[in-house]
Amino acid sequence: MPATRPEHHFSVHSGGNMKEDFEPEILAFCCKYCAYAAADLAGSMRLSYPPAVKVIQLPCTGRVDMINLLKAFEDGADGVYVAGCLEGECHFIKGNLRAKKRVAAVKDILASIGLEPGRLQMYNLSSAMGPRFTEIAREMTETIRAFGPSPIKGKLNACGRVVDPAVRPETLTT
Ligand code: FES
Repeated sequence: MPATRPEHHFSVHSGGNMKEDFEPEILAFCCKYCAYAAADLAGSMRLSYPPAVKVIQLPCTGRVDMINLLKAFEDGADGVYVAGCLEGECHFIKGNLRAKKRVAAVKDILASIGLEPGRLQMYNLSSAMGPRFTEIAREMTETIRAFGPSPIKGKLNACGRVVDPAVRPETLTT
């Protein structure tokens, strides 16, 4: 686990704006050679990141497939991001480029079912970019908080189809 610690200073304000009160759930698929190592570095630098972000370590972002990304939303994530090595520096040559393509394809699926494509992002960083790791986590948290809760929590199957017709009835007619 990364040594860096999630911060806990986002408070819930009773009676306030729902989006501001909303505590997002964000899944971060992080390559162990870069983003995950950057998280460790951030920890040793005593930098924190929002508790909304849950980090999953991968041997390479090339291991993330479209089903993993869709399943993350199906399982309740409000936002998801993939953080891989800098382009040209993947230890498996093209893993991060494959991940980039998959992220783009899943963004299209999200858009087709009426979900903001911005809920899914791809980032590239090096193991030396500890502060950037925390910056990305904050950026994503702010972005997802602005979107509000995912309207498809538990309503999307792994094929990208909306299971609950009450969510987007028009998607069931095509
Ligand atoms: Fe880091 Fe492939 S080894 S993205």
